[in-house]
Amino acid sequence: MTARIISGKEIAAQIREELKAEVADLSAKHAIRPGLVTILVGDNPASVSYVTGKQKTAHELGFHSIQDTQPADISEEDLLRLVEKYNNDPAIHGILVQLPLPKHINENRVLYAINPDKDVDGFHPVNVGRLMIGDARFYPCTPYGIREMLTRAGVQIEGAEVVVVGRSNLVGKPIAMMLVQKQKSANATVTVCHTRTKDIRAHTLRADILIVAAGAPDSVTADMVKEGAVVIDVGVNRVGFTSEGKAILKGDVDFDAVKEKASIITPVPGGVGPMTITMLMKNTVRAAKLAAGIPLE
Ligand SMILES: NC(=O)c1ccc[n+]([C@@H]2O[C@H](COP(=O)([O-])OP(=O)(O)OC[C@H]3O[C@@H](n4cnc5c(N)ncnc54)[C@H](OP(=O)(O)O)[C@@H]3O)[C@@H](O)[C@H]2O)c1
Repeated sequence: MTARIISGKEIAAQIREELKAEVADLSAKHAIRPGLVTILVGDNPASVSYVTGKQKTAHELGFHSIQDTQPADISEEDLLRLVEKYNNDPAIHGILVQLPLPKHINENRVLYAINPDKDVDGFHPVNVGRLMIGDARFYPCTPYGIREMLTRAGVQIEGAEVVVVGRSNLVGKPIAMMLVQKQKSANATVTVCHTRTKDIRAHTLRADILIVAAGAPDSVTADMVKEGAVVIDVGVNRVGFTSEGKAILKGDVDFDAVKEKASIITPVPGGVGPMTITMLMKNTVRAAKLAAGIPLE
């Protein structure tokens, strides 16, 4: 079997078109323009590139968007005051603090200071707790993108054996928690593996849906995958540079071999990656609706 490749780029483009229509509708019917601020501390090149991408997309969708760049030596208290300013700004519905923060700043203290109703990254403990009890307002963007890809590709999640490789707070734990809920686009039986799992292969071989967020190339090889499985590769690993100096990216899955066994697979790049920013935009629209008391779907 050769797998169908699901393009995150295409699905993300489709969702962005839907969001554009939603933004136009919010403006016409409620005079609301979703507002997003991205707060960047310092000039770490990767972080600069991430917030630039987020701002560009926000502009394209017609959001009110602010890039707030602060010096690397900003004090924790000043950063907390800045977050508070945006918590109190009615034109801002979503606040994103780009991570990592410099070492002298307690990241959790800053993330926990964001008003949970504006926490479009879904990292605040209130939102993590709401996700856990099946009453989520915001899903963290990468897991949200994964679930959206599965649903839009027509993958049956209900009743499926899902195996997640990785247990980070960013990807592994939230996607496991989302798919186990007694809800639509969920109702799966979920196993979470990590570096202390005794026999990972024994678990991955049972997976109807295998989600890999381990952070190392070839963490999953073809002998670990069941014939016909759906494989979602979250990993982004820089494995070298082209002669033009462009980074060569690889996922966590041995794509070439696994695609001969899987029924559906996501590529890297062009798979889960493009979904993440798009879901941030979707969360910002949700936040704007929440603020206006408009029911969420
Ligand atoms: N495309 C996107 O938008 C996006 C977004 C976020 C992350 N990512 C990528 O996804 C990958 C994972 O990110 P993360 O933040 O979740 O990473 P992380 O915080 O480093 O967590 C990796 C997890 O995988 C587990 N693990 C590592 N190697 C393993 C192995 N060989 N077998 C089983 N488990 C293993 C670790 O186990 P222990 O807990 O035991 O250490 C840990 O729980 C990275 O490549 C990252 O760049 C992509």
